[in-house]
Amino acid sequence: MYSSSLFEGNLDDVSAQEPQRSPIGVFDSGVGGLTVLRQLYRHLPNESIIYFGDTARLPYGIRSQAEILQYVREILHWMQQQRVKMVVMACNTSSALALEIVRGEFDLPILGVILPGAKAAVQQGKRIGVIATPATAKSNAYRHAILEIDPSVQVWQVSCPEFVPLIEQNRINDPYTTEVARSYLEPLIQQNIDTLVYGCTHYPHLAPVLRSLLPAHVKLVDPAVHVVAACTQELELLGLSNTHPPLPTRFVVSGCPQQFAQSGVQLLGHTPMVEVVDFTDTAVSQF
Ligand code: DGL
Repeated sequence: MYSSSLFEGNLDDVSAQEPQRSPIGVFDSGVGGLTVLRQLYRHLPNESIIYFGDTARLPYGIRSQAEILQYVREILHWMQQQRVKMVVMACNTSSALALEIVRGEFDLPILGVILPGAKAAVQQGKRIGVIATPATAKSNAYRHAILEIDPSVQVWQVSCPEFVPLIEQNRINDPYTTEVARSYLEPLIQQNIDTLVYGCTHYPHLAPVLRSLLPAHVKLVDPAVHVVAACTQELELLGLSNTHPPLPTRFVVSGCPQQFAQSGVQLLGHTPMVEVVDFTDTAVSQF
């Protein structure tokens, strides 16, 4: 079992008596989900959050469906042990490859980013580009979701294998990153897209770089904004919205806590205190 001073002793009582006060579980392979966390802070300021980054096993985008499924099941199982009231998969790769399968396996509301992103995209344009991890692009999850909502639009997907490692290494402002971005965007600009979907939660961290390369008329769609809107609706529907002040966010990773804390400073604006979990013995220690 984990131990944490924040929840110790009262978590079971709180969850049982006032489930509204239980945290929302948010996870990603790394710092990508912080773009979803940012939106949660903005739109659901009363919610307590447990953020998990599976940094020991990133990038997810080059992994097989069987691997992603195993990781997602482990994370959801752990989230259940933390008594979360809902889970937001702040990861497109997990949402594309695992969401539909695990939804039926866990007695928890679980939200993914693809459908909210697809719905938002069709409201923005007719020539839609999607940048995503290799696994998400290969799954065609965005193409299918978008065309199911509106078969009259056109969709182009580009796999961007270098983005996640560059972002995790804090190389957002490196000129090399701009060159990589230029090569990924080139075929989409050639197709004269009017809308670009961030098909990976890491990519909004690259917004200034991407904006500088895209024609001004191209609209950017960040599914993070829209999954948080869905989350707000779902909480209200289930009577699970918290009206009390939230607990501080718990940040938990499977890899190096120092590295996550370092990236977190830039992306969150403060240094997060980061715990480590080892799923092999579910021990948690603090950094
Ligand atoms: N940020 C995740 C996504 O939205 C995972 C990226 C990765 O680890 O490759 O797909």
